[in-house]
Amino acid sequence: MEKPSARRHPLKNIRAFRNSLLKWFSENSKSYPWRETTDPWAILVSEIMLQQTTVASVISHQRFEKFLEEFPDIETIAAASEEKILRAWEGLGYYNRVRNLQKSAQFILDEFNGKFPRHASTLESLPGIGRYTAGAVSSFAFNQPSPIVDGNIARVISRLLDQHLPIDSTNGQKAIWKYSGDLLDHRNPRLFNSALMELGQTLCTPRSPSCLICPVRDFCKTETPERLPIKKPRKKFITVEEHALLWIQDDKILLSPGHDSRRKGFWKLPLRAAEDYSHLSPLSKHRYVITNHKVSLSLYRVKPAHLISGEKYQLISDLLTLPIATPIRKILAEHL
Ligand code: ADE
Repeated sequence: MEKPSARRHPLKNIRAFRNSLLKWFSENSKSYPWRETTDPWAILVSEIMLQQTTVASVISHQRFEKFLEEFPDIETIAAASEEKILRAWEGLGYYNRVRNLQKSAQFILDEFNGKFPRHASTLESLPGIGRYTAGAVSSFAFNQPSPIVDGNIARVISRLLDQHLPIDSTNGQKAIWKYSGDLLDHRNPRLFNSALMELGQTLCTPRSPSCLICPVRDFCKTETPERLPIKKPRKKFITVEEHALLWIQDDKILLSPGHDSRRKGFWKLPLRAAEDYSHLSPLSKHRYVITNHKVSLSLYRVKPAHLISGEKYQLISDLLTLPIATPIRKILAEHL
């Protein structure tokens, strides 16, 4: 779709920009349970939940309401057993999030006398709370002028300002956060941040944005919205197939020190050429990604018949003290 170029720069016409966005939001905003409250605990719960679960799923299963029924305040969750908090989070996944919610509640009680911090910089010191969540709680609960950037807002801002730095780069993030602060309406931070987010969720969508009905189309600098935001080129992977011995004797495992560039300093399973084992079927097969390698590893339970020149083996019992790449450690754990 052809998109006409903007007649007004959003930052040079900042009042008009904010008014257009807020007017649209006042007429179109969706009603969500977390928008019916300014309780910072409830807002924090909603933001943590929405990091991993879609709005539709949180709403349709009433996850937000049920969680708050069980843990209506920081005192209740601070005193709850781990079993209880994990059960309340069941199905949402990423269980460290609910552990961090509890730790944050305990931290607020212990360090802030139970008074919820209102400034983003203080909120960021709580476990599991990053810059976005800190800004969201500060602006949604306390109406503080704290900018926020999530995926939706990053897309809206990169289009509005025709910002071509990759949004997943340090400089790109810096630019977007700065613009989010510059655009923010200090008289209405709560509404403004919600409006910017909702614009990204409903009209300024990734593939076919609805520019013709956008309330801020007059301010949008890009002529190619579907090409923004820019992301860094995808990392190129090298695929490798490896064949390794798995020899275990008296609970000790045969390993050799790695010397190639990828494994320098890390212990590895002794590797062999594929031809050496073409007559055997592997004990197990594994796939993993490490740095820029995609590895397919086949394991054979074979005692090494001979040493390869320069290769050193050791039967190792204490794996915990040795440097071993995490994927290999996991594979070993499956076999020990
Ligand atoms: N996604 C994450 N936080 C949200 C919020 N506060 N409102 C709507 N969608 C969201």
